[in-house]
Amino acid sequence: METRKRLGILTSGGDCPGLNAVIRAVVSHATLTYNWEVLGIPYATEGLLKRKSVSINVHGLDLRGMDPLLSTGGTILGSINKGDTEARAEEVIAGYHDLGLDALIAIGGDGSLKILHQLALQGGWNMVAVPKTIDNDVACTERAVGFDTAVNTIVEALHRLTFTAASHDRVMVVEVMGRESGYLALHSGIAGGADVILIPESPYSIEEVCRKISELRDRWGRNFAIVVVAEGAKTSGGLGESRHYTDAQGQVRLRGIGEYVADQIARCSGNQIEARVTVLGHVQRGGMPSAFDRLIATAFGKTAVDLVVEKQYGQMVAWQNGQVVSVPLQEVFTNSPRFIDPKDPLLATARALGTYVGNPIP
Ligand code: F6P
Repeated sequence: METRKRLGILTSGGDCPGLNAVIRAVVSHATLTYNWEVLGIPYATEGLLKRKSVSINVHGLDLRGMDPLLSTGGTILGSINKGDTEARAEEVIAGYHDLGLDALIAIGGDGSLKILHQLALQGGWNMVAVPKTIDNDVACTERAVGFDTAVNTIVEALHRLTFTAASHDRVMVVEVMGRESGYLALHSGIAGGADVILIPESPYSIEEVCRKISELRDRWGRNFAIVVVAEGAKTSGGLGESRHYTDAQGQVRLRGIGEYVADQIARCSGNQIEARVTVLGHVQRGGMPSAFDRLIATAFGKTAVDLVVEKQYGQMVAWQNGQVVSVPLQEVFTNSPRFIDPKDPLLATARALGTYVGNPIP
C-alpha cells in the first residue's frame, strides 16, 4: 500500500483572525483532494524543536458536526513571535525531517516567513508560504489574512467613539497598530470617517492637526473630531514620537503616540479642547474573521496545497487584482515591509474629502 504523503502546517508571528480558516482549507483540500496526511506543528519553530505535532483531520475538530475553524479567531496551533530559532537552527531544521514531513505550509508575516525561508533553504525543506498580518505590510500581495477584520474592528470602534465625542464636544484620538506601515490607519480612518489620519509614511505637523480641528468648529460648527493615529506616526520634523522601547525578549515595540498627540492638541488649543485617547491594542487582533478574510484565507489555503503538490516550493500565495497568484519568496523579502506609496489614490481620496493625512511629500 502506498504511504500517504505528510504535510506540516504552522502559524508564526503575531496572530490574527483568519488563521484557522487557512488551516481548515489546507486540511480539507490536502486530505480530500490529494489524500495527504496533515500534521499541525504547535508554536511554529518551538514545535519543530520539540518534535511536536498533532494530526488534523477534516472532521477532527468538529463540534457535533459544526466546524468552528472557519469563524474562530486566533490559531488552534498557537504561535510565537520570537523563539531561539537562530541559536538552534540545526535542531529546528532536523525537526522537519524527524517528523517525516514531505512539505510544509507556513502561515506568517514577512519577518517570520523570512526566518522560515532561510531554514528551508538551509535544511532542504519543501516550503510554501501564506501571508498574514493585520499590518498588511507583506510585499507582493494586496491583502494579507487578518487585515480586513482588523479594519472592520477599528471602524466599529470609530463609530462608537463618534457619538460620545459629539455628546461631550471632545476630540477622540484613536491609536491603532501597524508598526511602520499606515494601512490600518488609512483604511479604517477613511471607512470610519475620521477627520485626521496620521500615518508613518506621511509625516504630520501638530499645527495642521489643530488647524483642522479649529476649521471643523469655525466653519462647520462641529465641536468634536476623530483623530486616527498609527502607532508609528511621525512629525514632519522626522521625530517618531512613539516611545520605541525594547522589551525583555529584545523586540522593539511602539507605544505612546496617542497620548502624545492628545496632549499636543490640548496644548495648542490653550487647553480649550478636551482630548481623550483610546488605544485599541490587541482588540484589533481578535474576533471572528470578516467574510473577506475567510474568503482569502480559504483561497490561499487551497492554492498553497496545490503549489505543494506541484512541487512549487519557495513560493508565497498572494492576492493580486482580485485573484490568488504565487510569487517567489525572495521577491517578497526584497520588497518587504510594504509601505503606503505617496501616490496611493486613497491618500488623495482622503485629502479630497478634507481629511488631514499629513503633509504631502513633494
Ligand atoms: O505585526 C502585528 C502587530 O500587531 C503590530 O501591529 C504590533 O505593533 C505588534 O504586532 C504587537 O506585537 P505583540 O503582539 O508582540 O505585542
